[in-house]
Order: sequence, then structure tokens, then C-alpha cells
Amino acid sequence: LKDKDLIFVKLGGAAITFKDKPSSANFEVLNQAAKEIAEVFNECNLLIGHGGGSFPHPVAAKYRVQEGLEVCGTEGFAETQRAAREINQLVVKSLQEQNLPAIPIQTSACTLMSNGQIKEMFTKPLEELIKKEMLPVIYGDVAVDTEKGCSIASTEMILRHLSEKLHPKRVIIATDVEGVYTADPKKDPNAELIREISQENLEEVLGMVSGASTTDVTGGMVHKVQSLFNLAKLGAEVEIISLLKPGLLKRSILGENGLGTTIRFK
Ligand SMILES: Nc1ncnc2c1ncn2[C@@H]1O[C@H](COP(=O)(O)OP(=O)(O)O)[C@@H](O)[C@H]1O
Ligand SMILES: [Mg+2]
Repeated sequence: LKDKDLIFVKLGGAAITFKDKPSSANFEVLNQAAKEIAEVFNECNLLIGHGGGSFPHPVAAKYRVQEGLEVCGTEGFAETQRAAREINQLVVKSLQEQNLPAIPIQTSACTLMSNGQIKEMFTKPLEELIKKEMLPVIYGDVAVDTEKGCSIASTEMILRHLSEKLHPKRVIIATDVEGVYTADPKKDPNAELIREISQENLEEVLGMVSGASTTDVTGGMVHKVQSLFNLAKLGAEVEIISLLKPGLLKRSILGENGLGTTIRFK
């Protein structure tokens, strides 16, 4: 890799789509994110991951894709994949409109799952794209599972797997809230932002964090905290920030800490 830090950025499905409205993208948020990414693209090596929000989540829930291929059928697999790819195309288009060399990486084409966990990903092309100064854009998707027939690879799981291979310096998770709170901030007005999660308060935080709205088939905030703590163990700085506040993503990519919740392993 070029002599620049490698940074992974997740554009959360909750931020780039309207989660309660099937297949509707929030273009204002998406285009603002693309603009900020373009402004810092030359400063670092970047990989973008994004969630599916209201595109694949309702489809995956309807077919019960998480229960495996026997339950959801080939039709459920195909429909979920199509919905995930639809939002991916919109993300790639938005990035390319900022003259970024965004290249989609189809998760279902390079990922093998086993019992709901990523077993293998063919990542050589993706690594080469980064070396050649392009911008791979990977996304949460349904994939073949050797035990269940199929299961869902969340963006958090993908970024964790990629971190084992690529060792990013920072992993920035941008979503529709400012970080991890003591309770769901959309339901509890007294919820307080947790500035830092580490070994010391992990169990306590997991106890406080309720699941995200039922449309998130991959488990919402609990899944985020768990998988991101595992990711932090690999040595990356992990930051959860809001994508709804213009400017935060750019500042975070440039290295600023304390903009939301920091997760560190120590
Ligand atoms: N303790 C909590 N702190 C922050 N957000 C929470 C918490 N509990 C539930 N949530 C919900 O989690 C959502 C973010 O998770 P999710 O919907 O999976 O986002 P994304 O699509 O970006 O992965 C927020 O919209 C928020 O309402
Ligand atoms: Mg999610």
C-alpha cells in the first residue's frame, strides 16, 4: 500500500436510506458523504462498506433469509441480493459523481459463510484496487453458507474479516445516531452518549444496548458493539459517528477522535 493510512468507512443503512420506507435512499445524506469522501480521498487509502437499510432488510425479513436456504428458497436469496445491489449501485453512482474511482465489490460473489459467520472471502482483487488508488465499495449482502445454505454477511462482519487481512488504522462506522447510547436515543429522551467502550465497560454497555428497530435483520446496535469490539481487538481505532451531521465524516477520516463513541481494546 501507498505510504498512507488505510481507513475503512461504513455508511450505515440507517443513514443512507429511510429505514421505515422500503427501497428509498436518503440522497441528501448519501451525496454529502460522497462529497466529504472526495475531499479527503488523496489523504489516505480508503475502503467503503455500506449497509442496505430499507433496501434488503425488509426483503430478507420477509423471506426469513437468516433461517437458511430451506426456509427462504432460491427466490428469497435472489431477491435479497438484488435489493442489496440496488442500494450499492446508488452509492457507487453518488461516489462516481464526485469523480471518485468507486468500484463495486459484490459480497455474494466473493464470500463463503459457515453457520452465519464469514468463513472465507476472496479479497485479492479488492486489495489490488486499493493499491491502484481505486475505491472499492463493498456491502452487506446474502451469501452462500456451507451449513445453512445461505446467511447474511453484515457490513460489520465484512469489515472485521477484512481487518484481519488488511489491518486498517481506523474503522469509522457512520450511522443515524451520534454513537452508542445508554438506551435507544430514538425511544428514550434520557439516553446518554457513551464516549468510550473498552474492556472495562463492554459487558455493561451490551446490557444497556437494546436491539435496533426490527427492520435490521443483522441485529442493530448490539451486533455493532459486539462485532466492533472484536474488530478493535485486531488493533484498529474504531469510531461510531453520525452521518447526519455534515462535516463529521471528513473530520473523522482525517483522524479526529471523540466525535461520537470510540471503541478500543485495552
Ligand atoms: N443504545 C443504543 N445506542 C444507539 N443507537 C441505538 C441503541 N439502541 C438501539 N439503537 C438504534 O440503532 C440504530 C442504528 O443501528 P442500525 O439500524 O443497525 O444502523 P445501520 O443501518 O447504520 O447499521 C439507531 O437508529 C438507533 O435507533
Ligand atoms: Mg445495522
